[in-house]
Amino acid sequence: MRFGFSIARIDNNLNFVSINMDAIRDEIKKLREDFTKGTLSEADVKANPFEQFEIWLAQAVEAKITEVQATTLSTITSDNKPSSRIVYMREFENNNFFIYSNYNSQKAIHISKNNNVTLNFFWPELERQLRVEGTITKCDAKRSDNYFNSRPEESKLSAWASSQSSELKSRKELEDLVESFRKKFEGKEIPRPDFWGGYVITANYYEFWQGRKSRLHDRICYKKENEGWKIFRLAP
Ligand SMILES: Cc1cc2nc3c(=O)[nH]c(=O)nc-3n(C[C@H](O)[C@H](O)[C@H](O)COP(=O)(O)O)c2cc1C
Repeated sequence: MRFGFSIARIDNNLNFVSINMDAIRDEIKKLREDFTKGTLSEADVKANPFEQFEIWLAQAVEAKITEVQATTLSTITSDNKPSSRIVYMREFENNNFFIYSNYNSQKAIHISKNNNVTLNFFWPELERQLRVEGTITKCDAKRSDNYFNSRPEESKLSAWASSQSSELKSRKELEDLVESFRKKFEGKEIPRPDFWGGYVITANYYEFWQGRKSRLHDRICYKKENEGWKIFRLAP
């Protein structure tokens, strides 16, 4: 949904010179999206939620959704507060979702204390949300090496230079660190830092949400039970 009016003027230096914030407030309250693109029923879905995920992912790719691999990863802090950020899901197989990150980051500290996490994919062009709950562990070093080695050189240097989630004095401090690692590894293969690698999330719950007309959305859920999956529908 787009705003039906111009909200701001932008000068030649791309600075906003006027913003009608009251109009934005009014419009935000009024924005209404009616979802009509699809339906989801117990009869349509696969018995295995991972197969259903693969179908939805393929349809999202087909629909050319931007950043289809972006997902909100939520962790739990040591004082039991939720903490969310976007990450890229880079690999997926057999009910497992793989992400890559810094093993000293805030999320890594949360994960080391509490391995329950959630993922949330939003594919707006298909009016779909997919919630996944599961447990997370570090993946094996070989997989992390393979993925790290496939990254562009600049990304490899960034992994070395960024003590992710720690405070920086300035932007320059970070850029100087990149340059010092560039010199260090000049003419050499850049190895994977041992503080950087993959995590695997093994799902025990899925919810496939398909937007429907007048807020009567479809929510088809799967809960892991023994070796199988229980399928049920939730009220929207
Ligand atoms: C589109 C997008 C993709 C991202 N992908 C990743 C990723 O794959 N891995 C990662 O560690 N951070 C990624 N980030 C950055 C995270 O959102 C976050 O800032 C970072 O991981 C630090 O989070 P933390 O301090 O909670 O550990 C991405 C951010 C955006 C907006």
